[in-house]
Amino acid sequence: MFITIEGPEGSGKTTAVAYAVNELEKRGYQIVRTREPGGTPISEQIRKVILDKNNTSMDKKTEALLYAAARRQHLVEKIWPALKEGKIVICDRYLDSSLAYQGGARGLGVDNILQINSFATEGTFPDLTLLFDVEPEIGLARISANKNREVNRLDLEKIEFHRKVRNTFLELAKRYPERYIIIDASKEREEVAEATLEAILTRL
Ligand code: TYD
Repeated sequence: MFITIEGPEGSGKTTAVAYAVNELEKRGYQIVRTREPGGTPISEQIRKVILDKNNTSMDKKTEALLYAAARRQHLVEKIWPALKEGKIVICDRYLDSSLAYQGGARGLGVDNILQINSFATEGTFPDLTLLFDVEPEIGLARISANKNREVNRLDLEKIEFHRKVRNTFLELAKRYPERYIIIDASKEREEVAEATLEAILTRL
């Protein structure tokens, strides 16, 4: 079972997933928790290049290809082997982030991004995608309140960019209803965490 966690910045997905993973492990499930971009040493190196605030001249297509490259390496080294061993993989961001950020918000087109990613992923789609949906105003206010989180190149985009990210995610949820579950991430932390666990348990 391959589960991905998607949503805008400040949606609280990381905290909610940490809670859900802990509860699932208590119930005896074997979970591999990972994240994108990153998850393996090579992909983490690519992550640094992508998110570096000084890389202001990065071309949009370069950005899209780097995300796809990091994803490919992550699949080869970590995700595919874990799935082969029958483990549950929970990945913080995956393909749909590329569709929403590069395809929608950067304007490269969802179908173009799908195409480069089908080369990279050989058609590996998640079985379940949890979309942590929250208005960008709320999400961005949460990140600026969180002093421990380092601000990256994409956080610095204007509100309009983040609105496009959200709208594209909502369109993707309509396009792939069989694998999407929307979590209302504007609610209190505890409620969001419970909803996350529930959603995963119903699918398992
Ligand atoms: P990260 O610090 O991991 O953000 P978050 O905690 O919000 O998940 O940074 C990842 C950033 O990269 C985030 O702004 C979303 C963006 N991103 C893309 O634009 N495309 C992608 O394919 C992925 C995986 C992430």
